[in-house]
Amino acid sequence: MGPEVPVDAEAYLGRWAARVEEELDRRIPERGGEPPEMYRIMRYSLFAGGKRLRPVLCAAGCEAVGGEPEGVLPAACALECIHTYSLVHDDLPAMDDDDLRRGVPTSHKVHGEGAAILAGDGLLTLAFGLMADEEMARRAGAGRVIEGVRMLAAAAGAAGMVGGQLLDIRAGGRVGSPRELEEIHRLKTGAMIRCAVCLGGLLGGGSAEALAALARYGERAGLAFQIVDDILNVEGSPELMGKAAGSDARHEKATYPALHGLEASRRLAREACEEALAALSPLPGGAPALAALARFIVLRRF
Ligand code: IPE
Ligand code: IPE
Ligand code: MG
Ligand code: MG
Repeated sequence: MGPEVPVDAEAYLGRWAARVEEELDRRIPERGGEPPEMYRIMRYSLFAGGKRLRPVLCAAGCEAVGGEPEGVLPAACALECIHTYSLVHDDLPAMDDDDLRRGVPTSHKVHGEGAAILAGDGLLTLAFGLMADEEMARRAGAGRVIEGVRMLAAAAGAAGMVGGQLLDIRAGGRVGSPRELEEIHRLKTGAMIRCAVCLGGLLGGGSAEALAALARYGERAGLAFQIVDDILNVEGSPELMGKAAGSDARHEKATYPALHGLEASRRLAREACEEALAALSPLPGGAPALAALARFIVLRRF
């Protein structure tokens, strides 16, 4: 086991995000999909930008267990499709009613609500088609892919992101207890981030012990990520983020700054990041890319 060599998070993100985008473009091409308009609307949100954090965490989770990240790219693309669908639906008038996402008008503003709902449905369904990639099954083994499908369905569905979104809209202006708020964040955002890291580790051939470490890392990094998202909604730059600031307060959303204040929220994000970093110790070489990504999550401005 060599000493930990620090990784530049933004360079790592840039490199793997570009690779994921190539794969998405190849698998969901501009031409050839029928009906063409459906594919155009799905691609509108998918290729509007976005950090590609979940697919990059999947690649880094794979690397952390000594796997080859190229082999998990179908799963990485699936994660990004589900994440993008969740954003399209999150922005709908019935949910957060937002006009700007990834620096462009939201899907429903451009294509209408019905088409935006369907684009989300299309992206979600496509994700499970991508998980059935034959080459990935050959490399990782069908058993691991089946376990991965189960993991992804749990993280994206009622017991994960979708359930968290329900708690989020039901909470409305009523900011509950700290535990209640952490639970909303754990489900609506944490579940998919934890899943991204674990899916990479699982399909990369990780041991049960390594997967447990990745799960703990993903859980804490996922919480830190949503706390920072809440903080950026108060003090972030809409130009850098490509989405509105100030909307959570206007809609009286249950957020960390609303419940704890900004200063305590920053501290809680840093603490969750420290817990994520500590979780990496059982992994060979200390998983420097995951460590760098956890630090990026709390320091980011976008
Ligand atoms: C925004 O996620 C929605 C949350 C779960 C907080 P990201 O900040 O990762 O959005 P993109 O993918 O970069 O647009
Ligand atoms: C988004 O949470 C969570 C999901 C899309 C699952 P938010 O509503 O807080 O995220 P933003 O700020 O709109 O990106
Ligand atoms: Mg929301
Ligand atoms: Mg929102």
